[in-house]
Amino acid sequence: MKCRVCRGPAVIDVRRHNANFCVEHFVKLCRDQVQKAMREWSMIQPGDKVLVAVSGGKDSLALWDILLDLGYDVSGLYVGLGIGDYSDASATHAREFAVKRGAELIEVDLPSDYGYDIPDGSRAARRAPCSACGMSKRHVFDKAALDGGFDVLATGHNLDDEAAVLFGNVLHWQTDYLGRQLPVLPARDGFPRKVKPLVRLAERETAAYCVVRGIDYLVEECPMAAGNRHLSYKEALNVVESTSPGAKHDFYFGFLARASERFQAEAETDREDLLACLQCGAPTTTEVCAFCRLVERAGGHVEPGGPAHGPQPVTLGRGPR
Ligand code: AMP
Ligand code: FES
Ligand code: ZN
Ligand code: ZN
Repeated sequence: MKCRVCRGPAVIDVRRHNANFCVEHFVKLCRDQVQKAMREWSMIQPGDKVLVAVSGGKDSLALWDILLDLGYDVSGLYVGLGIGDYSDASATHAREFAVKRGAELIEVDLPSDYGYDIPDGSRAARRAPCSACGMSKRHVFDKAALDGGFDVLATGHNLDDEAAVLFGNVLHWQTDYLGRQLPVLPARDGFPRKVKPLVRLAERETAAYCVVRGIDYLVEECPMAAGNRHLSYKEALNVVESTSPGAKHDFYFGFLARASERFQAEAETDREDLLACLQCGAPTTTEVCAFCRLVERAGGHVEPGGPAHGPQPVTLGRGPR
């Protein structure tokens, strides 16, 4: 197996590109793919302050590493979800990376800062753990970016993640979600732009990137996600990809190039005038936002941040996933 670029010994084959790469040229491939995605979608502007959400897993640590190497002004954000040993281990990986790279890591802990954890929160709100977790993370990401004066919030969603979400949205014809499934969502009302710079890299590649770069990531998956629908969509797409390399890429990028725009109108009509949550000030269609309701039901507490004189109109669309 020889590297496509230098003909030296290769360490990885990337069937989607029909090529093999040595360590040096694989690292370059990953950086190039991130830069290409960022250019194509104008994800980060010169001078932007970037906040990257890091879970301690391979994707977000690879993303943080690449953004630091590319010279961006980037801090990490870790959210402690209170999922037992899994959360303790995730935090350790995120912290160790930050120390090693001398990078700033902002930490928010649901149990100590809000008085609830994901297992209790999902039970109390009668939501699936991943739904309560996703909603909590979105809220905390927005708030941390806003409080810290960041222009961009980057997450480690990769090609496998985005293709699986697209598959689910198509399977159930969630046309409003399809209209919003983009690798970049513009900034609105003080909230940062949201970007996914890893959409051109597959899961296997971000894992290999961490291995060759010596990044110690948490291999274990979240115990609460086992058996969820998203994982079954990933497995289904893996079966297709194994006999048809490049299928995931064509599915996702074909959608972005040829179909996504057709669902924009649907996403627009779904937008409603939002109010600021009476409790925390976040945009919502109800008086008190879903996050504050979840925290309250789980017996936690939210710091007041709502407007002093009743609900104020804010003009923005519903939050992205
Ligand atoms: P997931 O929703 O677990 O597939 O994660 C998607 C992305 O969300 C990751 O790549 C991270 O960027 C971010 N993320 C997930 N969990 C956390 C966490 N506990 N703290 C901060 N960011 C996270
Ligand atoms: Fe959110 Fe597992 S990381 S439920
Ligand atoms: Zn090479
Ligand atoms: Zn609220």
